[in-house]
Amino acid sequence: MMLRNVRRIGLPLLVIGAAACDATPPPVGMARGAELYETCQPCHGAEAAGNPDIAAPAIAGLPQWYIQDQLRGFQAGYRGDHAGDLPGLRMRPMALTLNREGDVESVAEYVASLDPHFPASTLHGNAGVGAASYAVCAACHGADGLGNPDLHAPPIVQLDDWYLLNQLRNFKSGARGARPGDTWGVTMRVNSLALTDQAMQDVIAYVQTLR
Ligand code: HEC
Ligand code: HEC
Repeated sequence: MMLRNVRRIGLPLLVIGAAACDATPPPVGMARGAELYETCQPCHGAEAAGNPDIAAPAIAGLPQWYIQDQLRGFQAGYRGDHAGDLPGLRMRPMALTLNREGDVESVAEYVASLDPHFPASTLHGNAGVGAASYAVCAACHGADGLGNPDLHAPPIVQLDDWYLLNQLRNFKSGARGARPGDTWGVTMRVNSLALTDQAMQDVIAYVQTLR
């Protein structure tokens, strides 16, 4: 059955595909990004608003440079290569599918063009207490939580609170930011080490007041 189908339709298509590949470089840019995003949609959603049930964050409107950093980080195993980091393990194989030249840039450009969602809070930290801890974070993520591209620090105001907590826990445990070569992750990890789980929830509660 399979073989017959391949003979009937598969082979001619493959031949045409190969010929097109030889003649033209892979397409890049928004149209290609939208096409690539079809792979991401089952988890991150049509509007990239995320899906808490599988711990996939809202990624719409994150800056293109940061999305590229992270996709390359997943590819290199800086993220999603640690036993027990189930969400990261789900995401890493997806980043590895972006294997043609310009794929990472194109899909990042597309996701960056979508409007951010600012998902509702789900945790109950103490924002007043968190404000004091945030003084340190502001040096890189900005007093407004909008990040700083020069320091590769992302905006954190528009992210899901449960996702921020997962990441702070990952940095602290070394599931993220502990690999040699992961310059930006290592920079961030240092800032997570002193935080207790309650302090993480408090600082996240404060970050959400910056919206
Ligand atoms: C099988 C489900 C799944 C698919 C498909 C998927 N992702 Fe993810 N993605 C996740 C999960 C889960 C996380 C959270 C990982 C973590 O907690 O470290 C994530 C995290 C990310 C992040 C990190 C966000 C941040 O703030 O650091 C980016 C960027 C991302 N995904 C982009 C993509 C792109 C682009 C695609 C399509 C090529 C894609 N994802 C496909 C599940 C998925
Ligand atoms: C010295 C600069 C610096 C300081 C200070 C800092 N961060 Fe970061 N942070 C970064 C960088 C750089 C990244 C991106 C890491 C990467 O590329 O993996 C990051 C990433 C993050 C992430 C992950 C975001 C995502 O989308 O996955 C969270 C959450 C975060 N920081 C929270 C904090 C909090 C809370 C504080 C204060 C307790 C803080 N940061 C202090 C530089 C900093």
